[in-house]
Amino acid sequence: MHDRNLARASLPVPRRNCVILHVGNLGAPVDAQALENAALAAAEAAATVDEIEQVRVEYLGRKSELKLALREVRDRETGMALNALREKLETAVDARQQALERTELDRRLTEERVDVTMPGTPVRRGHLHLITQVRREFEDIFLGLGYSIVDGREVETTHYNFDALNFPPGHPTRSPLQTLFLDDETVLRTETSPAQIRTMEAQKPPIYVVCPGRVYRRDTPDATHTPTFHQVEGLAVDEGITLGDLLGTLDYLIKALFGENRKSRFVTHHFPFTEPSVEALVSCHICDGSGCPVCRHSGWIEVGGSGMVDPNLFEFVGYDPERYTGFAFGWGPERIAVLRHGIPDLRELWRNDPRFLEQF
Ligand code: DAH
Repeated sequence: MHDRNLARASLPVPRRNCVILHVGNLGAPVDAQALENAALAAAEAAATVDEIEQVRVEYLGRKSELKLALREVRDRETGMALNALREKLETAVDARQQALERTELDRRLTEERVDVTMPGTPVRRGHLHLITQVRREFEDIFLGLGYSIVDGREVETTHYNFDALNFPPGHPTRSPLQTLFLDDETVLRTETSPAQIRTMEAQKPPIYVVCPGRVYRRDTPDATHTPTFHQVEGLAVDEGITLGDLLGTLDYLIKALFGENRKSRFVTHHFPFTEPSVEALVSCHICDGSGCPVCRHSGWIEVGGSGMVDPNLFEFVGYDPERYTGFAFGWGPERIAVLRHGIPDLRELWRNDPRFLEQF
């Protein structure tokens, strides 16, 4: 026969200060004091955060003796006693956990300390490509003069690349031998000048803009040609602009790019979109004008095309050519870089060999 009271009677005789709490009708009695002693001893013995977590599960977890007993509680007194025990154990376990966490943190801070005063791994610093440096110089010079910078399109229609720029039918540049066509009416722009037309269509005078960018020509690469290169286009349109304004601006540009002591000179030229057209020359920076191989013994070096905007362009974009005049120029940053640094082969600028590029 299985008698619950008999089973209970067979438990060890409680010590004097033991409180035996009888829980519910069926539950086994809980020796509160023994439980408390065991739990506190276990918490004290826990040496790591993991271990204290195990103690918490064992003594305060859902299946712990205490929690099971609490679930079975029927009388208020037992409930209060067990809850007081629970609180006491929770406080003890929390305190031990915090202490262990602090110890663990201290250990990690010591073991994993980083000496921020140690020299780091050196990082190689790059710098801007020479063409970008010269392009930015152009931009700075003209921003200083009150110009704005506009973007053009690298893929252009034949209308903007040729027709609106006054290129006559049959002009050699219209040939697929010279220009890269994407289809009959679409080209990779051969110059930045189409940006003049797009700017004038989008804005009313006064206009003072520069447009830097890449251009494309069907050239075989050699020491002085690359099929892709850069230009910086300039355009000024206002009332009363004269050739004197163009020459003064270019003289300023030449001195800003090549130095205060350089002299400028201008000779007539031909471009379909300017009338008159002007080629700018700078006094040779190698021989200072006395003649050397760089300036082909002339004392002067050509630096870029320009001119007064042909009134036909104004008619294309609907400006009154009686009211407005303007000038334009299109210079090449590569040419400026080559002249300044005596670079013997333009292709070096595109090979991107760091041993070459890091010199500038
Ligand atoms: N587009 C010309 C070229 O590629 C350069 C040029 C000349 C641009 C005169 C201009 C200009 O705007 O007015 O050689």
